[in-house]
Amino acid sequence: MKISSSEIRRIFLDYFAGHEHLVISSSSLIPNEDPTLLIVNSGMAPLKPYFTGEKTPPEQRLCNIQKCVRTNDIESIGDRHHLTFFEMMGNWSIGDYFKDEAITLAWGAIKDVFGFDTHRIYATVYSGDNRLPNIPPDEESIRIWNSLLPPERIIRLGANSNFWGPAGETGPCGPCTEVFIDRGEELGCGGKDCGPDCECGRFLEIWNAGVFMQYNLHESGDFSELPIKSVDAGAGLDRFSVILQEVDSVYETDLLKPIKDVIAGERANNISEKSIRVMTDHIRCATFMIADGIYTGNTSREYVLRRLLRRAFLHADLSGVQPQNLARASSLVVKMFSQYYPQLTQNQRVIEVAIKKEGDTFGKTLKRGLKEFEKVVLHSKEFISGEDAFKLHDTHGLPLDLLKEIAKEQKIKIDEEGYRFFLEEQRKRSRKK
Ligand code: GLY
Repeated sequence: MKISSSEIRRIFLDYFAGHEHLVISSSSLIPNEDPTLLIVNSGMAPLKPYFTGEKTPPEQRLCNIQKCVRTNDIESIGDRHHLTFFEMMGNWSIGDYFKDEAITLAWGAIKDVFGFDTHRIYATVYSGDNRLPNIPPDEESIRIWNSLLPPERIIRLGANSNFWGPAGETGPCGPCTEVFIDRGEELGCGGKDCGPDCECGRFLEIWNAGVFMQYNLHESGDFSELPIKSVDAGAGLDRFSVILQEVDSVYETDLLKPIKDVIAGERANNISEKSIRVMTDHIRCATFMIADGIYTGNTSREYVLRRLLRRAFLHADLSGVQPQNLARASSLVVKMFSQYYPQLTQNQRVIEVAIKKEGDTFGKTLKRGLKEFEKVVLHSKEFISGEDAFKLHDTHGLPLDLLKEIAKEQKIKIDEEGYRFFLEEQRKRSRKK
């Protein structure tokens, strides 16, 4: 049976409320009193003071669905399941249960509540890592998973995969155990080492069943023990929807497909799938960011928003999609999600104006920039020198990341090292001034 995303939301919250978790609401995407974090990137980010003991939580067991933004994976947008904006279904124990109950709770939801095919489930656990010599392998999680899964589906990985956090530069963090589902050999790379840590897309992480937060990372780079042991667990709503709605990618779920269709419009069969996905993802993310009071600018989170919008408008231009389609898609995001996030409707007009304004300004820049780009290409054929790339950025407003996308479409190479040299020279000149 296929389950809608609104059902998934309800079932998740009911399950954890039924296990004595207090349902709390999603926080804004703008971090509250956390200068180390640009944008809320996880369910636990707004709760950091509870884990460090600076604040007392309303209850020791909490759960919610938190809107999050992560742009560190922006280059991966366009594959089956990376997103800049996503909703994290989270449950937390603040000095209450620890590894045993966290894993058992996740397993109960996976097996009995959502009915995932458990034969396709893998768990990853922290194996220890030379880079963190004082943090031992997570033998306890291995023992717990051993009672639930065959040993060949319990995979031991190092800090890159299985040490999570902190959200931001400092704060609570710890080893984690993640749950993956095998989507089938036919989606895989066929490599002999293909497994949950392979990027090929066969294995989809559906749940971080527990970050076991015992450590506090300080500005100095040192860890101290936290006063209490806590659990931070999170499952992506979009990824759950992929599996439970039996679709190929997050863009085919009921959370994104309607937005994607509005963007593609009549050009659906003539646009690269990657471009439609980038526009769909970025417009949804930008709409949520503006609703929370972020405006476009040249620094900090304002620049993150500008970059997302400009990338969406660039892909629209490259693929012949009308800018109005992006505006329509944003209105649809407001309509689809406002029952969960009322600030979308409250700020609808601001969202419309901000997107139109950025589209108009960027449209003019892009036109000028593309003209210059064509002149450069005419002259230099399949290669753009560092100096030309820098000029296109500095004088004609085409930043390197967008330039790279335009160049890639036309199979043109850019001397990025040369570009960085000219950029650094300019920085030195302005520092002198
Ligand atoms: N906070 C846990 C995670 O994002 O995976």
